[in-house]
Amino acid sequence: MNPKRLEGQIAWISGGASGMGEATAQLFAEEGAKVAVVDIQAERGQKLVAGITDNGGKAIFHECDVACEDEVRQSIEQTVAHFGGLQIIVNCAGVVHVAELHEYSEEEWDHLMGVNVKSIFFSIKHGHRHLCKNQRSYMVNIGSVGSFIAQAQTPAYITSKHAVLGLSRSIAVDYAAEGLRCNCVCPGITDTPMLHYHLSTTPDPEATLANRLSRVPTGVAITPMDIARAVRYLSCEDSAGVTGTSLAVDGGYITPAEWETEGKTKFMEPS
Ligand SMILES: NC(=O)c1ccc[n+]([C@@H]2O[C@H](COP(=O)([O-])OP(=O)(O)OC[C@H]3O[C@@H](n4cnc5c(N)ncnc54)[C@H](O)[C@@H]3O)[C@@H](O)[C@H]2O)c1
Repeated sequence: MNPKRLEGQIAWISGGASGMGEATAQLFAEEGAKVAVVDIQAERGQKLVAGITDNGGKAIFHECDVACEDEVRQSIEQTVAHFGGLQIIVNCAGVVHVAELHEYSEEEWDHLMGVNVKSIFFSIKHGHRHLCKNQRSYMVNIGSVGSFIAQAQTPAYITSKHAVLGLSRSIAVDYAAEGLRCNCVCPGITDTPMLHYHLSTTPDPEATLANRLSRVPTGVAITPMDIARAVRYLSCEDSAGVTGTSLAVDGGYITPAEWETEGKTKFMEPS
């Protein structure tokens, strides 16, 4: 039996150069997938691809702004031309903008919605004709705990992440007959550059993080690899039968009505 879960699969991963997208690209390559890393960060993306290739994996990098339809189309076409097909789309690219709504410019609102939401529309629009050639195909979209609840000073982000979940459900319904399963992974506080950027907008980032984690039952941040494993689960037949759903990977963040983590949890120690 081949222990690799994604052997022979071809995956297009947006936001693949950093954070949870990067972890997903690494894990997918280890699991035998051929991976297209799609991002605006060319240097990071190329470095990641070189590392995967050095370890015997198969990966290519496409510099692509996912808010731009033509760039998404081209990166998907190039992925198919290079690897010979497409079975998995992971929409992980995302941006956050911290401000109250009356302070937003129209451009800031549109940019965030373009990257976080419209990109998913572009990926299915241009990925569809390739995905539907497979008996089974997979789309995993990265939502957030903000797909269910609000957070301070991130109104466009919260709106976008609610939309990601709604769009994921809609895609699941409309494309099930073609063998596509579409699900939404909803991370909690995850240790990535985006989290550190978000924290840096507060007066005391360390205290802000400690305060936020005190509202998480496990008491620790999620790792990018925790998210990658959830994405892997939804990108293969381990999750057969699961579509149109959301998987919160949040250390229990949105479960309690009230919570204060006091003292140590076992999750704070190595397993
Ligand atoms: N870190 C968290 O706590 C957290 C929590 C919930 C959800 N998320 C979501 O997880 C996803 C991944 O974020 P992350 O935390 O790994 O952050 P990250 O900043 O490390 O990764 C985001 C990636 O998206 C890329 N990106 C941004 N704009 C792009 C564009 N226009 N075109 C192509 N790529 C673009 C960035 O270059 C970056 O590589 C995002 O959708 C984010 O909203 C993050």
